[in-house]
Amino acid sequence: MSEAPYKLGLTSLARETRHEALPVEGALPPWLHGTLVRNGPAKFEVGDRSYNHWFDGLAMLHAFTFADGEVGYANRFLNSTSYRQAEATGTIQRSEFATDPCRSIFGRVMAMFRPQITDNANINVMRLADQYVALTETPLPIRFDPETLETLGEMGYEDHLPGDITTAHPHVDPDSGTLYSYTTAFGKTSTYQLYKLTPGSRTRTPLGSLSVDEPAYMHSFAMTEEHLILAAFPFVVNPLELAFSGKPFIANYHWRPERGTQFHVFDRAEGTHLATCAGPPFFAFHHINAFATGDGRLAVDLAGYPDASVVDRLFLNRLREGIGERAAADPWRFHLDLKTEIARKEVLSETGLELPRIDYARVNGRPYRFVWGTGNRVPGHFTDQLVRIDVSTGEAHTWYAEGCYPGEPVFVARPGATTEGDGVLLSVVLDATAETSFLLVLDADTLEERARATVPHAIPFGFHGQYLSGKPNTLHR
Ligand code: CO
Repeated sequence: MSEAPYKLGLTSLARETRHEALPVEGALPPWLHGTLVRNGPAKFEVGDRSYNHWFDGLAMLHAFTFADGEVGYANRFLNSTSYRQAEATGTIQRSEFATDPCRSIFGRVMAMFRPQITDNANINVMRLADQYVALTETPLPIRFDPETLETLGEMGYEDHLPGDITTAHPHVDPDSGTLYSYTTAFGKTSTYQLYKLTPGSRTRTPLGSLSVDEPAYMHSFAMTEEHLILAAFPFVVNPLELAFSGKPFIANYHWRPERGTQFHVFDRAEGTHLATCAGPPFFAFHHINAFATGDGRLAVDLAGYPDASVVDRLFLNRLREGIGERAAADPWRFHLDLKTEIARKEVLSETGLELPRIDYARVNGRPYRFVWGTGNRVPGHFTDQLVRIDVSTGEAHTWYAEGCYPGEPVFVARPGATTEGDGVLLSVVLDATAETSFLLVLDADTLEERARATVPHAIPFGFHGQYLSGKPNTLHR
């Protein structure tokens, strides 16, 4: 069996540490005062069992705190119920994305009545109802202290909005701070339920819903200044199968290309369902941006795949052997015509990307030019470069270094910036040769390296992070 050169990025990290100042090469921008908090899996085995999939591992938070040209680092496991039960019993106790606990027949029947859904919030972090929370796709946000990374417990909502799963990628209106998201409620008829949450509130306001027979697996969604858009890919589940198959969550989803992709468009203010535009079958985890182009037309940009087989390529055994193919999606734009209800595809660039980020506060929901993401230079080398794509021309800049595997590049705007993309990118990079990771700071415009700060261990590949400017407990994103 071959072994992937980046395997250390899929190896458990047991050590929890805190360093006041990491060694820095180059110069950190003097204006960088804040904390990058990142989330991702860091424990892939419990007792003698291994989780099956990259998305299953137990969550760890990492904080890089910038002040006065220096950067500190801390990391800590998220003390979720899933984590505590795994630690206490030495066995996997909760159902994850692609791993189920081993159960006797009796245990399986009992689990049907008392579903042990996971609160292993390993995908993203954000500020929600004036709290900092870690998020996954079950609607159980876990609060944490961004300074100490201490877990503070589940953030309960003060409502009874239905929903079994949700997205770890809510949208936020940067002016009002209002959050927009959705849940999927499984049943004889299933429902996509959109909602909004105003700052400081824990009561979600329903915003419109849609009944469906077989709900799609949707990792994220799109928001323009006036619309919310759910791209329902033909990767769908029969809720009865989900309840009774005895198979892990994602194994119940099936690729049904004959259904095509349905773009459900809602009015953002009222929640009214405006149109469902029919597009070709494809799959995506991540939306990039969306905006109105006039005359009842919308542009919806995302990191697309021809089908959902990427989900299978991210099983840990396959990833650790080396996937042997390109680890990137393609930047596609779908032109939605709300009158004809047809969605037409345009390829924005020949350069692939994943984990896309934009200058969110400035351009989300509006026409824009730049997207940054991870990319793939050598097929089989997983994410071995960072890219900046100009979506107006398709032109791309890249950053790469021998034996290095970068994660999601988080854009941080320079204070006082007046143009899109004026700032830096922060990315955690695995240096497989040195067997350590470093925090990379790039000029967001040119992708030239400005600084790197080396961490004393290798950080397993994570998913998403957010930059909190200023002192974390006193500030707003
Ligand atoms: Co994601």
